[in-house]
Amino acid sequence: MTQKRLNTRYIKVDPLKPDPGAMHAAGAILAQGGLVAFPTETVYGLGANALNGKAVIRIFEAKERPSDNPMIVHVADLDQVKDLVENLPAPAKALMHAFWPGPLTLVLPVGSAVPSEVTAGLPSVAIRMPGHAVALSLIRAAGAPVAAPSANLSGRPSPTTAAHVLQDLNGRIDMILDGGPAGVGVESTVLDLTGPVPTILRPGGVTLEALRGILGEVLVEPAVLSTLPAARPRSPGMKYTHYAPRAPLLLVEGEPQASASKIREIATEYRSKGKQVGILTYSDSEDYTGSGQVVLAGQRNKPETVAAGLYAALRRFNDLQVDFILAEGLPESGVGLAVMNRLRRAAGGRILHVVNQDNGCLNKKYDE
Ligand code: TXA
Ligand code: MG
Repeated sequence: MTQKRLNTRYIKVDPLKPDPGAMHAAGAILAQGGLVAFPTETVYGLGANALNGKAVIRIFEAKERPSDNPMIVHVADLDQVKDLVENLPAPAKALMHAFWPGPLTLVLPVGSAVPSEVTAGLPSVAIRMPGHAVALSLIRAAGAPVAAPSANLSGRPSPTTAAHVLQDLNGRIDMILDGGPAGVGVESTVLDLTGPVPTILRPGGVTLEALRGILGEVLVEPAVLSTLPAARPRSPGMKYTHYAPRAPLLLVEGEPQASASKIREIATEYRSKGKQVGILTYSDSEDYTGSGQVVLAGQRNKPETVAAGLYAALRRFNDLQVDFILAEGLPESGVGLAVMNRLRRAAGGRILHVVNQDNGCLNKKYDE
């Protein structure tokens, strides 16, 4: 990378009542075409003025993000949406009313004001109103909608703290607003409203069950449930290996008891070869003490707690410098659907499906 190293300003702000002076300074950076990382209720975002194509290009450079991956535009009020879209499909208003501000992104027919850098040339634009006082205040201070992907280097787990953002982007962006840890922990649900039936392109903080409660019929894009990266999904970001810690990760899905014995068996095999093994599991799962470096990501039977701790857990394996990670799957109800989608993507195809005592294997080549 030949990027000029910047002096990244770091400012701590109250997550509920951010200091107006700090927000004014951050808004001025965005208005001048700069980049500001900020907390949202899902993960930290890396923001630029969404109406300034050159500023948006700087996001791609800072993150080393492929330029065919479009961005979500963040708004602070419903008036801002009107200028960004060509029209509002029927269910859009009901969804905005039910879930905004909050972790739901709507894919809508794009209006002419949106630069093609934001949409990567697609005929649609993704929009959400974040449920976080700092994010809303930043958008208002910028005087424009804010394009923001997650504030990580492309391919890495999304940041849920300002420290994660610093790890990835210090020296590459103008400012970081530290508003404490993000609450939801996984990104927003991306829902496509441009087709005949609303379709989830990326599961996230608003669950499939909650969307069906409002809309009735909601489809899930097949790539979401796939165990392999898709070649041409409708949400371009879904085709990249993502959320990945440095060491290869093997996801063990299926019945809990059988998964546990498989994890122990594989851990023993790797340890006997002198490898450091990491195990990603939950506080109410099996006790893997002695099998490897155990990292707990919340409670298995409360998927919201796993979502909140997932990305920090994946980053923790980098600090522990393990050679190989074994991750336990969990049920796909509620936000568990989003968690499993992220774990499958982090596994990049290394997935073992364990069925009772009989080990059906979706991908035998889990060893790299
Ligand atoms: O919670 C979130 O959504 C966070 C915070 C910062 O708001 N943002 C986020 O952005 O996760 P990013 O860029 O990491 O993920 C955006 C996803 C990508 O998978 C992208 O391909 C998809 O949304 N996307 C954006 N615009 C789209 C469009 N017009 N059509 C289909 N998918 C789109
Ligand atoms: Mg991202």
